[in-house]
Amino acid sequence: MLTTLILLLIGYVVGSLSSAIIVARLAGLGDPRTQGSGNPGATNILRLGSKRLAAVVLLGDTLKGILPVWLAWGIGVEAWVIAGVGLAAFWGHLYPVFFGFHGGKGVATGLGVLLGFSWPLALAVLSIWLLVFWRWRISSLSALCAAALAPFLAWWLVPETAIRVAVAVLAVFLLWRHQDNIRRLFSGQEGRV
Ligand code: G3P
Repeated sequence: MLTTLILLLIGYVVGSLSSAIIVARLAGLGDPRTQGSGNPGATNILRLGSKRLAAVVLLGDTLKGILPVWLAWGIGVEAWVIAGVGLAAFWGHLYPVFFGFHGGKGVATGLGVLLGFSWPLALAVLSIWLLVFWRWRISSLSALCAAALAPFLAWWLVPETAIRVAVAVLAVFLLWRHQDNIRRLFSGQEGRV
């Protein structure tokens, strides 16, 4: 039980390290939550003008999803604990304890968590993101399509029920965090990258 609690706490704390806020502050770009789309994520950092910093944010946010899940696999805990650790890291990104619980939409961290859960699943979800992005060049639309299909892919590719359920929960939160993007997509105001 103690191991489970510690792993969940590690997941949440690591997830709370918002790469976009940290990187933007260090680079003197200010707070990404008050600029562009207001999302502390790689797309918004790119929008604020830096490809290099956006790549760092993408890597940082992805890693903080993968690492806690890998740690849990490495310790050999049950699948429901691994599922919980992934969700804890994801929720840390959405509601970071270090940044007033005002975090991002969870795309890169969600991908990292999926990579930790199952690399074939992550590869399938990433392929959908890339395909939609290649066609429309809209980051949010790509994330929405990938997230909407992720639970179905998980049901097909992942044997553990707990992890399938975690993927579905993750997808629901991710879609819900994109409400503003969905509104902009329907009104034709969502920008292309
Ligand atoms: O990665 C987040 C993306 O789906 C939307 O970001 O900044 O366009 O709201 P943004």
